[in-house]
Amino acid sequence: MQSFNRFEAEPWSIDGFAIVNGRLYIDGWAFPEDGNDLTSRFFVNGEPVETAIAIDRPDVAKFFERRNRARDCGFHLEHPVTPSISMLEVHCTSRHDTARVRARNSVFVPLKGAPVERPVPSAEQRFRVIGNRDLDGFLRIGCTDAHKLLTLIRADFPRLREVRALDWGVGCGRIARHTSDLFGSFTGVDIDADNVGWCSANLPGRYETILLRERTQFPSGEFDVIYGVSVFTHLREDIQDLWLDELRRLLRPGGRAYITVHGRTAVEYSCRPAAEIAAAVSRLEREQFFVSNVNHQLDGFVPEPGEYVNVFHHPDYVLRHWRKYFEHIEIIPGYIYTHDLVVVQR
Ligand SMILES: C[S@@+](CC[C@H](N)C(=O)[O-])C[C@H]1O[C@@H](n2cnc3c(N)ncnc32)[C@H](O)[C@@H]1O
Repeated sequence: MQSFNRFEAEPWSIDGFAIVNGRLYIDGWAFPEDGNDLTSRFFVNGEPVETAIAIDRPDVAKFFERRNRARDCGFHLEHPVTPSISMLEVHCTSRHDTARVRARNSVFVPLKGAPVERPVPSAEQRFRVIGNRDLDGFLRIGCTDAHKLLTLIRADFPRLREVRALDWGVGCGRIARHTSDLFGSFTGVDIDADNVGWCSANLPGRYETILLRERTQFPSGEFDVIYGVSVFTHLREDIQDLWLDELRRLLRPGGRAYITVHGRTAVEYSCRPAAEIAAAVSRLEREQFFVSNVNHQLDGFVPEPGEYVNVFHHPDYVLRHWRKYFEHIEIIPGYIYTHDLVVVQR
């Protein structure tokens, strides 16, 4: 098997995290780079991390066999933190970072304040949006995804207080709990009425239940910004076309949408045997868009559960097909962890 130096979007991950007696402890993994020592790459709230120890990780390497030096990826970090800190940003630098995607390499951990103190949805409500019941992950990854989106949205629309935002596929507010009170107005919609009800009762903003394949009741041009995390990853092509058209209608001219898809990054990161990954990569190259399987996470909570599927998009497909709906399209690989982010403008 041919090994290669790096992925288009390199993954890195925090596995364990604790603060004990004013000291932060983190375990995780990030692939090493030639000429860039793994242990000097980490920053905590902008400061170089105090202690970093490299650790052998054969367990991670087994899923990334093609990446050379994959087993050298483990790290243990320690850093002092003061009690007043309300949010941690752990940043992993890379020589390959561009200014645009630097935010991709940060993990944000909320420690106190509204997003942490708000009620949390039940384990079953969380399971329907992320496929597991881990509360720490729900808060940490939700906060991280929110900050990554906000970094891009702020660059495009510096005055957030004047922005009318829509969270399309809001679920149980995994991201909305970190974003909804920052915008001028905030709306969340979803086909899962139970989760929409939870958001209405517990988060700032207005929330509405919508139908899988019907347009919304909102007027045209109602929103400056729309984001949709992991919604196009679950819809068949005819339903996607309907929503591409509806999202376009809902954006005002010059408005932007930030939409995630499963692209090459999701295929490359999937923890499966190398032969299966190679087969999925060639299927993506060949078919450009495919439904891999039905997803049962929403069974019992939406009217047409068999229509909720797992879908993969080739970047060429997105650039070619979505151009029928939007003027400007940019794809940022691996921006929202395993998802590629597509930024479009009406
Ligand atoms: C994987 S979950 C992600 C939820 C949320 N965006 C997040 O990142 O936590 C996908 C969500 O999209 C919702 N969904 C699926 N089809 C939809 C549609 N046509 N319109 C709005 N929401 C939809 C599902 O009910 C589910 O809550």
